[in-house]
Amino acid sequence: MMIAPASLSDASEVAQIYAHHVRHGTATYELDPPDAAEIAARMAKVIDAGWPWLVARDEAGTMLGYGYVAQFRDRAAYRYAGEDSIYIRNDCRGLGVGRALLTALLAASEAAGFRQIYAVIGGAEPASIALHAASGFDHAGILRGSGRKAGRWLDTVFMQKSLGGGTATPPDEEPR
Ligand SMILES: CC(C)(COP(=O)(O)OP(=O)(O)OC[C@H]1O[C@@H](n2cnc3c(N)ncnc32)[C@H](O)[C@@H]1OP(=O)(O)O)[C@@H](O)C(=O)NCCC(=O)NCCS
Repeated sequence: MMIAPASLSDASEVAQIYAHHVRHGTATYELDPPDAAEIAARMAKVIDAGWPWLVARDEAGTMLGYGYVAQFRDRAAYRYAGEDSIYIRNDCRGLGVGRALLTALLAASEAAGFRQIYAVIGGAEPASIALHAASGFDHAGILRGSGRKAGRWLDTVFMQKSLGGGTATPPDEEPR
């Protein structure tokens, strides 16, 4: 497996992987799969901001999964708080791809200056909770009944991990 920074030419493969999880899973609360152009626009926003967007491919070049970190919420004081998102091709789940992508994303996020990474886990997805716990994330709360999809009320689980010393020191650049 190879993990590398994504480019906008990856958008159609990303859209295919994501569409399965939109249609059949509860990790994302989107109900309609976005097309490749919309995915490319979302990717550009992350990449242009200097945040990590990574793809994992096998030796033949087939995309196995992808992950990215973006600022948790838009307002400026959230500058040092990121949220990760990882989606693995459905027939490649449970093979260690998610773990490898999250490890690489955490290293890239620390290099990008993030001090906290949050996992916002739709549908309290057990595999995602296990992945983040195995990567050193702690539980940080739960929003009960925050989503509704496929005829079910969904809980959203928050987990978090500190990077770069967390709150022990101020950042290099101090926002107002
Ligand atoms: C959650 C997801 C990203 C995990 O990636 P993955 O490649 O399937 O997981 P990995 O094989 O790397 O396993 C990572 C850890 O989670 C555990 N795990 C994986 N799938 C699991 C499952 N279905 N149930 C319980 N634990 C599971 C593994 O045991 C492993 O722990 P370990 O390294 O201590 O053994 C992937 O299953 C996925 O794309 N799910 C749907 C979308 C989603 O939930 N994305 C997360 C949004 S933040």
